[in-house]
Amino acid sequence: MDKQDPLKKLSDYLALDMDLCNRVITDRMQSSVELVSKLASHLIVAGGKRLRPLLTLAAARLCGYDPEKDVSPRHVRLAACIEFLHTATLLHDDVVDESELRRGSASANVAFGNSASVLVGDFLFSRAFQIMTEDGSLDVMRIISQASATIAEGEILQMTTQNDLSTSIARYYEVIHGKTAALFAASCRVGAVVAERPSREELALECYGLNLGMAFQLVDDALDYSANQKQLGKTVGDDFREGKITYPILVAYAQATEKEKAFWQRVIEQEEQNKEDLASALELIHHYKALEATLNEAKKFALKACQALECFPTSTLKSLLEEIANYTVYRHF
Ligand code: IPE
Ligand code: IPE
Ligand code: MG
Ligand code: MG
Repeated sequence: MDKQDPLKKLSDYLALDMDLCNRVITDRMQSSVELVSKLASHLIVAGGKRLRPLLTLAAARLCGYDPEKDVSPRHVRLAACIEFLHTATLLHDDVVDESELRRGSASANVAFGNSASVLVGDFLFSRAFQIMTEDGSLDVMRIISQASATIAEGEILQMTTQNDLSTSIARYYEVIHGKTAALFAASCRVGAVVAERPSREELALECYGLNLGMAFQLVDDALDYSANQKQLGKTVGDDFREGKITYPILVAYAQATEKEKAFWQRVIEQEEQNKEDLASALELIHHYKALEATLNEAKKFALKACQALECFPTSTLKSLLEEIANYTVYRHF
């Protein structure tokens, strides 16, 4: 990460809050059952961008939240809660996707097995709900529990579209809204809630997070075909191997010749793949400029995210959040 990296700039700006958040994360991932702490720390110590908790912290600060007025800073604890939820979804997602690499290390399902990953995922979900109830706000509970249910629905909906080339773009958007954007939206909204700002600001931040999350997942789906694996920290080509219906595939398939359609049906619908097929798929994806089309869609969502912030006066934090929207589109990992 260089100095100009918007994610680094936001992390630096919120460093004190983020340090406290990381402390809550380390503290609350502990358990008297050794395997729980061991598996959780395997994933949590490996890092991750911490984008969602940063959004909670940023949203709270943008809305002028004053942590001094509470016994323990609510935004910090809720940011940790959000990162636990996110981490739990990663544990479950890697089992379902049979992924082998996460945050640059062996994924937990590879290092500890599927059962342990699912069960520790359940633990982290439950821990997130404990932190949320300790906060005590019914609004916060409503927002986070709703997001949690929506993520599960998104992952399940995605499962039903797997290997199905007749999936519509609208359905794809429903999937990514559920599995990714809903948590981004909730991460931002709870920040405004703790600051006790009018609902106009709450909704503006929710809208920012939602559109940011849509852009983020579109780019994730492009990176699955184009990233440098080492930099990404996840296996490139996973979506292809799994027959996942993502935006790049939909774009290439919509323009395919009969022969190309037959290729996509074999590799995506039947999941009959040989060694050269990923390279052939990439050729078609490049030929139909499907990654450019995906990034263009992401740019539109990123723009909507920035527009949602218009009701906030100019400030360093507002500019940083605008830069994050841009970063989401141009990121490499
Ligand atoms: C991964 O999210 C899951 C998706 C929604 C694509 P991140 O890319 O934010 O993962 P970490 O937390 O940085 O590892
Ligand atoms: C991410 O979906 C959504 C969740 C983890 C809930 P992906 O399957 O695309 O995420 P990665 O690529 O494994 O991080
Ligand atoms: Mg996955
Ligand atoms: Mg992915």
